[in-house]
Order: sequence, then C-alpha cells, then structure tokens
Amino acid sequence: MSDTVIKVENIAKKYILAHQQQERYKSVRDSLTKKLKLLEDKLRHPGKKQLNPEREEFWALKDVSFEIKQGDRVGIIGRNGAGKSTLLKILSRITEPTKGRINIKGRVASLLEVGTGFHPELTGRENIYLNGAILGMGKKEIQRKFDEIVAFAEVEKFLDTPVKRYSSGMYVRLAFAVAAHLEPEILIIDEVLAVGDAHFQKKCLGKMEDVGKEGRTVLFVSHNMSAVESLCSRGIYLDCGCLGLDTSPQAAISRYLENAYALADNVLLANRTDRNGSGKVRAISFRVFDAKYKEVSSLQSGKDYYFEVGYLNYTEKALSNVVFSFDFFDEKGNTVLLFRTNFTNSNLNLNAKAGYVRCKVSNLALANGLYRFSVFISHADQEILDFIQDAAYITVDGGDFFGTGSSGLPSHCKILAKSEWLSVDSYELET
Ligand SMILES: Nc1ncnc2c1ncn2[C@@H]1O[C@H](COP(=O)(O)OP(=O)(O)OP(=O)(O)O)[C@@H](O)[C@H]1O
Ligand SMILES: [Mg+2]
Repeated sequence: MSDTVIKVENIAKKYILAHQQQERYKSVRDSLTKKLKLLEDKLRHPGKKQLNPEREEFWALKDVSFEIKQGDRVGIIGRNGAGKSTLLKILSRITEPTKGRINIKGRVASLLEVGTGFHPELTGRENIYLNGAILGMGKKEIQRKFDEIVAFAEVEKFLDTPVKRYSSGMYVRLAFAVAAHLEPEILIIDEVLAVGDAHFQKKCLGKMEDVGKEGRTVLFVSHNMSAVESLCSRGIYLDCGCLGLDTSPQAAISRYLENAYALADNVLLANRTDRNGSGKVRAISFRVFDAKYKEVSSLQSGKDYYFEVGYLNYTEKALSNVVFSFDFFDEKGNTVLLFRTNFTNSNLNLNAKAGYVRCKVSNLALANGLYRFSVFISHADQEILDFIQDAAYITVDGGDFFGTGSSGLPSHCKILAKSEWLSVDSYELET
C-alpha cells in the first residue's frame, strides 16, 4: 500500500542479561539495594528465562506486527517494561530486532531518552546543525528553521554552551524543538515530556498536534492517558512484549486501565512475589471499607474510609514500634498522598501471629482518577519488613469534597483542599 509508512512484521527482541557474581559492594546499603533491584526485576518479569545465575535471556518484544499509514498519530501505551521504548528504539534503528523485519518510508526524527541524538561536547547551535544534517537537510533549510527552534526551546542565551552543561529541562526542550521543527516525515517521541515543566509540556503537545495536522506521522509513548487521548488518532496497547490491541486511543486506554485493575484484583497480596523486605512480617490482604464498614471497590472524594491490611507475623513474637505506610501514586507515578504511622506517633504493636491494621482516613482529599497504592511495613525505621509497590489500584470516582458539586480539576490537580476567599477594600483587618 502506498500510504503505509511503517510496516512492522513479526518483530521480536531478545536481551541477554549478564549479572556479575563477584562484585565487591561498597556498603551494606549498596548490596541491599542491588539485591532488591534484582529481586524486583525477577519478580516483575516471571517470563524471564534463567539460563544460569549470570546469564539470563529475556524477550522484551514477541512477534509484534502492525502497519502505520501516513498521517497516523499513534499512542503506544502499556505498563512499565511492556516493551514500548524497545519498539521505538527498533523503529529509530538504534537497535536491531532479533527476529522479524521493519520497513520505513520517510525521514524519521526521534526523541527517545534524554541524551540520544545530541553530542554532549557540541554546543546547542552545533547540535541543531548536526541533527538537521542527520535528517538529510541542507544548511539553508536548517538555517530557515533555526530561529524557530531556538525560540521554541527558550535556550537563546545558551546557544554556544556545550549541551553537557544544560539542565535536563533545557536539554529536553532543545531536543524536542529540533525533532519537531526539522520537518521529519515521521516523529517518534518517548515519554520525554515528563521531564519538562507544565508550560513546556503544553507547548510540546500543541506542536505535536500541528505536526499531526500537517499530515506527518507521529508515534508517541506516554503514561499520560489524557495526552494520548487528546493527541492520537490510534492506540497501540503493548502487554508484556506482545501487541495487546491496535485500535482507537480510547479503547487502548480502557484496556490499559482494565488490566491495571485485573492485576491488582487477581492476585491476593499473600501470593504476591513482587515484594521487598525481610519478610518477617508480610501484608497478606488489602481491603477498603466505608464509614459503615461496608467493603468498597471504588472511592469518592470527601468521604471517610478505612484502609485495612491483614498481616502475618513470622517472627512469632509480639512486635512494637512497627511503622506502616500507605502511599498513593497518580497515573504519572507521582506520590500524591502518604499515610504513615510515625507522622502521628501512632506506630503499632503487632501480635505474635496475625492480625489487621486499619488506617482511618477522613474526608478523602483526592480528585477523580486512577491511583496506585503501595504498602510499606518497617520495624522502628530499622528494618524493612515488607514493601509491595503495586499493592492495589484504586479509583476515585465522584463524591462531593467541596459540598458544592464541583469535582475540582482532576486533570490539573489531584489533591483537593478547601479554601476561603474574601475580597477586601483596604487593610483595615480585624485585630
Ligand atoms: N538493554 C537492555 N538490556 C536488557 N534488558 C533490557 C534492555 N532494555 C530494556 N530491557 C528490558 O526489556 C523490557 C522492556 O523494556 P522497555 O524499556 O522497552 O519497557 P517500556 O515499556 O518502555 O517501560 P517503561 O514504561 O518503564 O518505560 C524491560 O523488562 C527491560 O528491563
Ligand atoms: Mg520506556
């Protein structure tokens, strides 16, 4: 087909992971962090095949095929580790697929991670020319675009500074400006917008929309579902390296959210292996109750809830001064709320066998949205007993925190807080 610009046929990508065995660790803390990281990685990816402890084989992409037509704006979504960046790296020819073929028609500009595409020793100005040349543009053509790029990136003052001296924000601004303005036929962007501030993110989304309107092709990886929904005309959902769905952005987003729930629902905390900590105490269940002790599956702002974790104490001794911490993360992974016993001097005593810990939260101050919930248990801040990062997914849907029917601005801010306003004519304030 003549309007097909990208054709991906049965691609797969295998990584061989090499673990060093006899590494000397600098400190106990380093050693622990490293072990936890390995454990987490292993538990997160049960599909990884163990060849021997030092060599591990892992398929980051498995038999993925699709076609992209000129002018498609494709949002690629999926959980962490689903293979999104690997796919973009293959399409940008930064890495080769282990199996399968790709065919690309047109000039590709890609913005993958902070760092790719720019030469650190060269100045901002030199990098603009270098990137233009890589894209096959002549000097005149680049000159024509130069001022626009610099203005967009807001780096006028630093044009003659080597980019290795740039802050990560400046770096991404310039990299984005170059990729988007040098008129590529295909623009590939991986999650970089997360680095910039809100003002710049907005500008980037606007620019990507323009690029799309000009009939150029955009591939966009993001965890920001609202950006994917507003920007993209098509959605690809990757699930553990497989093509889960190739459809409308709305349908791909729904599948992504459904799977997030399913994952949390299907696995009892007791059976979860993706956890860190000594394991002397383990969280085995998680439930939420409303003020009348009725179990609920979604929450509403402004209401009161009990968050309950059941635990098993494997030490078989009563423990005192145990810290429990429940963290809520938004869709972008920012911690938005943190309930922790030691903030309120309420560290807990646990009995020698098993029991429940309940945390009462009044007047829930969260706006509508999907949240990830993590459980952290430690003993007197000395030893991590149990830590499950993805303990559950929770939605806040509706409610009346303000008592006015307003739900706040969930896409703008997740925390709700009441405020009192008044207008004064002069500073004759009461004393
Ligand atoms: N160079 C590499 N060597 C070994 N494993 C890798 C390499 N690059 C990626 N992986 C692994 O491949 C899997 C897919 O990684 P990828 O970066 O494509 O995921 P992603 O969907 O972009 O995730 P995220 O949302 O966290 O960015 C992960 O498990 C990752 O650890
Ligand atoms: Mg990635």
